[in-house]
Amino acid sequence: MKKFYIETFGCQMNVHDSEKVIGTLVTDGYKQVETFEEADLVLYNTCSIRDKAEQKVFNRLQNFKKAGKGKTFAVIGCVAQQEGEKIFEKAPHVSLVAGSASYGKLSQLLVQIEKGDKRVTGLTFDANEAFETPMTRRDNPHRAYITIIEGCDKNCAYCVVPFTRGPERSRTSESIIREAHEIVAMGYTEVQLLGQNVNSYRDPSPAGYNFAQILRAVAEVPGMRRVRFTTSHPRDFGKDIVDVIADNPVICNHVHLPVQSGSSRVLEGMLRSYTRDEYMRRIDWMKNCGQDIALTTDIIVGFPGETEADFEQTLSLLDEVEYDSVFSFKYSKRPNTPALSLDDHMDEDEKSRRLSILQEHQRQIQIRRNAGYVGRVEEVLVEGFNKATGQWIGRTGQNKTLNFLHHSGDENLTGTYLHARVTRSGPNSLTGESVVQ
Ligand code: 5AD
Ligand code: SF4
Repeated sequence: MKKFYIETFGCQMNVHDSEKVIGTLVTDGYKQVETFEEADLVLYNTCSIRDKAEQKVFNRLQNFKKAGKGKTFAVIGCVAQQEGEKIFEKAPHVSLVAGSASYGKLSQLLVQIEKGDKRVTGLTFDANEAFETPMTRRDNPHRAYITIIEGCDKNCAYCVVPFTRGPERSRTSESIIREAHEIVAMGYTEVQLLGQNVNSYRDPSPAGYNFAQILRAVAEVPGMRRVRFTTSHPRDFGKDIVDVIADNPVICNHVHLPVQSGSSRVLEGMLRSYTRDEYMRRIDWMKNCGQDIALTTDIIVGFPGETEADFEQTLSLLDEVEYDSVFSFKYSKRPNTPALSLDDHMDEDEKSRRLSILQEHQRQIQIRRNAGYVGRVEEVLVEGFNKATGQWIGRTGQNKTLNFLHHSGDENLTGTYLHARVTRSGPNSLTGESVVQ
């Protein structure tokens, strides 16, 4: 039996794509192995969102070139789509280069290699449908991912995703709801709906669901206890989504709404198609909906032309929103993107300076915000046990980590829901004790 080893870089979309690729390969008679050494086929599922992420796969290919003699190397995912056949020049020991839109024909591509083809590619976007497999090997024991939409039509000035993942393609509501039922039947109680921009979901079938409707439908599947979704784009984030979250306790009180910058001028340069005020209107809907919705975001510092005053507006936005957590990045030049041709690219030192100021600023906000949880009782889904501290690791509906002590019994709590009272807080997590409800 042929054995494969897969390593995944990047976002949850990639993590889930790998689960589907594994399902496809296992259906084809391959066996997954845990180490590179044991494998005949080595797959790297790659990310190209920033230059640093992209370099990782080339480092891997270089480092494992010698040890990989006789093995078949495949580069799949975003770097594959972006670099295409250039990968064969940079790393001649690679035999297969395929982007995510070609995973549906992965089996055929592998057969071509077995027949003796030295260089095989799958780089077209002709696949109109989202990638569905008869079997998905789900790796995360607690949270099942469901893709609802692939690709992105937004064309933000800095972003490579429209080139690596192609145009938006939504799955039918029937197929999404069917998968949600299957997931519950497998024993999962938590799902995360995935897409580069879930809010622009448009059901291609006659039912014609929009995002708020598919969110509600998945939450209503019997046995489902937690539904999450990512990622949202502020432009398509309508009030109907907030209403569905507020009405339905199964939908977690957490929204990740990437803002990128607090300056309307920079947002315009980024082609984000909203202003700071328009973004804040969406935040206000959530703050006034009667639920305590945790808010998280993505920020890019050092976009070309970002002045000190623009940067300060980003800091003031952090104060105004009081996010529960922020993913922040230095602007990174990406091939083919409109921002490449802008003037005023900033030097790395200045970007680093802004990034560390922003991160320290946000750390203080998180310390303050999390302190507000002390004394509260939260429901957690238990994800594991930390031997070193003797604490169980739980996750709240708001996606916060709550490490807690549980005094009675030796039973394994992993995968169960229970309540814990928060006794201490830090910038990134909460600590507490279980309570009987
Ligand atoms: N440089 C830096 N950060 C980027 N992101 C996307 N493209 C770039 C880039 N060229 C960030 C955005 C996005 C997140 C997934 O990655 O903040 O929301
Ligand atoms: Fe995910 Fe974007 Fe990275 Fe591709 S480039 S793996 S879509 S974050």
